[in-house]
Amino acid sequence: MKAIVALAVCVSAVILVSASPSEQKSKNCNEVRTAYSSKGFNSNDVPNKGVYETDLKVCPQGFSCCTLEMEEKLSQQSRSDLKAPISQLSSNLQTTFTQRHQHFNQFFKELLDNAEKSLHDMFVLTYGVMYMKNAELFKQFFRDLRLYYASGSSAVHIDHMLSEFWAELLERMFRLVNAQYEFSDAYMECVSRHTEELMPFGDVPRKLRLQLSRAFIAARTFTLGLALIPEVVSKVSTVSASPSCVRAAMKMLYCPYCTGQVALKPCKNYCLNVMRGCLANQADLDTEWNNFLDAMLSLVERLEGPFNFESVIDPIDVKISEAIMNMQENSMQISQKVFQGCGQPRKELRSRRSTKDSGFPGRFRPYNPDARPTTAAGTNMDRLVADVKKKLKHAKKFWSTLPETVCVGDRVTQGDECWNGTAKSRYESVVLGNGLANQVSNPHVEVDITKPDKVIRRQIAVLKDMTVWLKAAHSGNDITYEAEDGSGEGSGSGCDSSSCDNDTDMYFSTPTPKSRINPNVRASSSGVRLAPYSLVLTLAGAALTLLISHTR
Ligand SMILES: *[C@@H]1O[C@H](CO)[C@@H](O)[C@H](O)[C@H]1NC(C)=O
Ligand SMILES: *[C@@H]1O[C@H](CO)[C@@H](O)[C@H](O)[C@H]1NC(C)=O
Repeated sequence: MKAIVALAVCVSAVILVSASPSEQKSKNCNEVRTAYSSKGFNSNDVPNKGVYETDLKVCPQGFSCCTLEMEEKLSQQSRSDLKAPISQLSSNLQTTFTQRHQHFNQFFKELLDNAEKSLHDMFVLTYGVMYMKNAELFKQFFRDLRLYYASGSSAVHIDHMLSEFWAELLERMFRLVNAQYEFSDAYMECVSRHTEELMPFGDVPRKLRLQLSRAFIAARTFTLGLALIPEVVSKVSTVSASPSCVRAAMKMLYCPYCTGQVALKPCKNYCLNVMRGCLANQADLDTEWNNFLDAMLSLVERLEGPFNFESVIDPIDVKISEAIMNMQENSMQISQKVFQGCGQPRKELRSRRSTKDSGFPGRFRPYNPDARPTTAAGTNMDRLVADVKKKLKHAKKFWSTLPETVCVGDRVTQGDECWNGTAKSRYESVVLGNGLANQVSNPHVEVDITKPDKVIRRQIAVLKDMTVWLKAAHSGNDITYEAEDGSGEGSGSGCDSSSCDNDTDMYFSTPTPKSRINPNVRASSSGVRLAPYSLVLTLAGAALTLLISHTR
């Protein structure tokens, strides 16, 4: 008897359910409850059976496993569902380039530290006391270079800094080679004024100025570019989804819940249209983003080509000692010219002796670019460059391909058995192009093309500016800091003289350091190379000791 009653209830329930087609879809809401509570929501929100809902805002009215309250909560959920994959991708990109920026920055700084140490070691050996008494001058030189690298030409004008260095070096050397005379400050000022025309250090200062400014401009602008990437990505990822976008995402992701079809995934093209609508502003970054990355890829050539930072900084000790040797070789003529121009100095009273200029018997270790330093950054320039190139290329089209990157895997269903926004069916609409202009008539997301996102517009402008700076750095000009402080003055590049054209072409017209290497040195292994080097040092040291004892 009981069984019959139970059966009767059961049958009448079936009859009731089959009475309306929409009821059939919402048989029971158990699966919905499970899925809903797995999102962290209260399962009591979910009705046992489909209820007739007329006040749903997004999903279809009628018998439904959704209530208005659930719809609101699921809207919040869609907002974070939408955000999660984009945040993930953006944060990967940020991490990648924050790390690359650190690697390069550390590498450049270590090159400077190594160059300073190497100069110190070489000069202690070669010039002994004479160097140590004047070591502060070289310390200052490297301090200025570091400052120039770190803060750019607005803080340190490299031309100015270098001419101060050479003037100071000339003054000290001039006193040394003319130790039998007394010089007043006014006299030394006169000497400084003649530095340019005297060219006491030969062609070294001019070459070094060009090479240093090119190398520093390229290195610094490149690292600025690397640092800009995480900044732009971070700012763009603060842009929140529009209400219309969240609504479309809600419909796409959770309206299948209302019909009890929790496993039903959106059609791929449906997903693409929703995401392209949601990311219409972001996609507009792509053009400038790609231009910027191309300019970075172009500038990176300057970090591996001739006169790159490493091959300019590494042999700086050799170049400065070359300059010192030039001065010593010509000290007689230089002194004569100075005496003519600034007057005959007074002889020092205490001692009387004749000073014969002592030239160096040999040259310093020639530069060998094969012996590239591997720093504590654990790598050398070639490897850093190869790695960053890969990452830069990979980052291209990041913004316009975000929808494709998001609408993959188990987030969507390929084929016809998918949620098309109203039914489990084919998605018929065409997939619209990327960017605001293409998204005017998005069927799911309202895109207001008259109100482009301000944050993104700003980042587009920032990328545009940086691209201009990168391109200028590629041709050897430093405009980054001018642009920042708004002063139109010429800067470190020194492209204001008639030598501008030649300077700009320096990258192409001057032989690479490699071709200037003495073939004998190149052939020998690094171990063998040490022998003549230390011999030269010993000889040079002996000559200097002679010079110093002479001048005492
Ligand atoms: C979704 O499927 C239904 C039923 O086949 C169809 O009427 C509707 O046009 C489809 N919607 C889209 C956007 O393709
Ligand atoms: C530029 O280079 C050419 C040879 O390439 C030379 O004749 C000319 O004097 C140089 N100009 C300057 C200003 O250095």
